[in-house]
Amino acid sequence: MKIDHVGYAVKDIATAKKAFEKLGFKATSETHLDEGRQINLLFMENEGYVIELISPASPSAPVANLLAKVGNTPYHLCYEVESLDDEMKRLLADGYMTLQAPLAAPAMGGRRVTFLVHRDIGILELVEKEAQAK
Ligand code: NI
Repeated sequence: MKIDHVGYAVKDIATAKKAFEKLGFKATSETHLDEGRQINLLFMENEGYVIELISPASPSAPVANLLAKVGNTPYHLCYEVESLDDEMKRLLADGYMTLQAPLAAPAMGGRRVTFLVHRDIGILELVEKEAQAK
């Protein structure tokens, strides 16, 4: 599976963006509020490597606990897949568990994403290559 991006949990997207710019990253999106998941998102790119900065928009956001425990940190790799349903079926049969059921991600062109977890590697995100027709 092709890696789409590395997800970083950060407390403040604006300050994290400035620090990543000094490492050669450039923003490829505006900071986007995902109301469903209560997170702010920003994508950046450096010579083909894409990162996603994620900060909580409310204390109930999925990354809030992680940030409280370990501070700013990379925490997921996202893989691009042709069929989310087929790949999920394969991985769930292979020891993965669902952390977050498939959901259209507004910050990713409405493509569906899901989060899985495996005891040997931790959190993994899948993003479907194409957005589903409405
Ligand atoms: Ni991600």
